[in-house]
Amino acid sequence: MIRARTVGEKTGFGNLSEERTRGDIDAVERLLDLHPPAKVLDLFCGTGRHCLELSKRGYEVTGLDYSREYLELAQNRARELGVSPHFLQGDARKIEFGSDYNAIIVMWASFGFFADEEERLIVQKMYQALNAEGKVYMEVKHRDWEVQHFEPSSSLSERKPSVSNWL
Ligand SMILES: C[S@@+](CC[C@H](N)C(=O)[O-])C[C@H]1O[C@@H](n2cnc3c(N)ncnc32)[C@H](O)[C@@H]1O
Repeated sequence: MIRARTVGEKTGFGNLSEERTRGDIDAVERLLDLHPPAKVLDLFCGTGRHCLELSKRGYEVTGLDYSREYLELAQNRARELGVSPHFLQGDARKIEFGSDYNAIIVMWASFGFFADEEERLIVQKMYQALNAEGKVYMEVKHRDWEVQHFEPSSSLSERKPSVSNWL
């Protein structure tokens, strides 16, 4: 079993701090006018940092990701925190998202890597999973910033090999 590190400063990928994650959710609440106990889907939730923060605030949360390893880390962390988000493992192009969500969040530029047809399918599934007043919050990259700061020499092999190092 993979053990999540004791709850500390870092909450997910790389050096992302809990403070940043809290700020992300503050922005989601403000911009979507979202309040607990709204039902939220965190699509491509990774190690679940936003699911955990939303759960702590009293939301009914589902996190969906393809990676069993990430979801196991998320589940372990949820146990440590005493919260119970629901996690779905599967390919977003195929798995059912559930229904009647007040909001769907897609954080850390996790959308935009599939073929056009597949992206259309995922957007359609998002639309169907929302209730009539449901809203979407999607964090995307800033093109101009990326162009200015792009580092062509960086490579995956320079990164730490295990996701357990990311918590
Ligand atoms: C940038 S990471 C997630 C970041 C997370 N939202 C956060 O802010 O910490 C992108 C995630 O997409 C997931 N993913 C990639 N392809 C997927 C697919 N076809 N279906 C579901 N999840 C997928 C990966 O496992 C990974 O956790």
